[in-house]
Amino acid sequence: MKKIEKKFNEVWKEIAYKCSKQYKLVLGNNARFVAETIYKEFKNKQFFTYAECGVFTGTTFFPIYHLCKTLFQNFRLYALDSFSGFPKDITLNPNDEFENFEIMYENGSISEDHLIRARERCGKIPNKEHLQVDYFKDYAEEFYKRCEGKKEIQIVKTSFSDLDKNLETGSYNFDLVFLDCDLYLSYTECLDFFKDKTKLFVFDEYYSLKYPGPRLACNNFVEKYPEWVFFNKIEYSQYFERWGITK
Ligand SMILES: C[S@@+](CC[C@H](N)C(=O)[O-])C[C@H]1O[C@@H](n2cnc3c(N)ncnc32)[C@H](O)[C@@H]1O
Repeated sequence: MKKIEKKFNEVWKEIAYKCSKQYKLVLGNNARFVAETIYKEFKNKQFFTYAECGVFTGTTFFPIYHLCKTLFQNFRLYALDSFSGFPKDITLNPNDEFENFEIMYENGSISEDHLIRARERCGKIPNKEHLQVDYFKDYAEEFYKRCEGKKEIQIVKTSFSDLDKNLETGSYNFDLVFLDCDLYLSYTECLDFFKDKTKLFVFDEYYSLKYPGPRLACNNFVEKYPEWVFFNKIEYSQYFERWGITK
């Protein structure tokens, strides 16, 4: 077992330096939240497993890879994505429309400040382009190249509706599953698929200013499976909320 003496901030600083040099990546607070959760919950584990649903070019995935290199003797990371943007059949779900922020405010599920910020953010996006099939495009090559020589990574090219066909898990359990896939159906499909294969989800979009669907999907899920409990971290310097669920 690796013995980690360093504090999280020190480890994260070294990873930020590596990622800036190797991939020209600037680390975001979303990656930091995933990393802090891994560090806090699992840093003394022998073998760690992680799945990220929606990797795009790897702004979160590669910092997590380097964190795992530092913390664990053995680990396995699964990169799950269509590698061609949102699948066609999932982008027209009414739960992803802006109006859901208004409805969630009216029923007390989000704050007035959240609604105002979402209104401002969505108002700047032309033609609802963040809901279009081609919002994420031409990233597969870059992601695959960044994975070269990293034997602990398994790339799974799949629509999340086909996870049961394309992700061979056997008796595998995932220590942490990170959902960063923006849309209501993508979240619902991943939650359903992984619910008996993990005890810990971290969400990128539970507090989103662009996508209301993930919050609805997570709330529906927890209502249906009350053994799952929310946890969060509030960032005050530039207000933001990070969320996950555990059981
Ligand atoms: C916000 S990006 C991921 C960002 C990435 N985690 C990061 O930190 O840079 C969302 C990704 O999820 C993928 N995605 C969303 N819904 C999907 C689905 N139903 N099936 C497969 N991929 C999906 C998109 O293609 C896109 O690459």
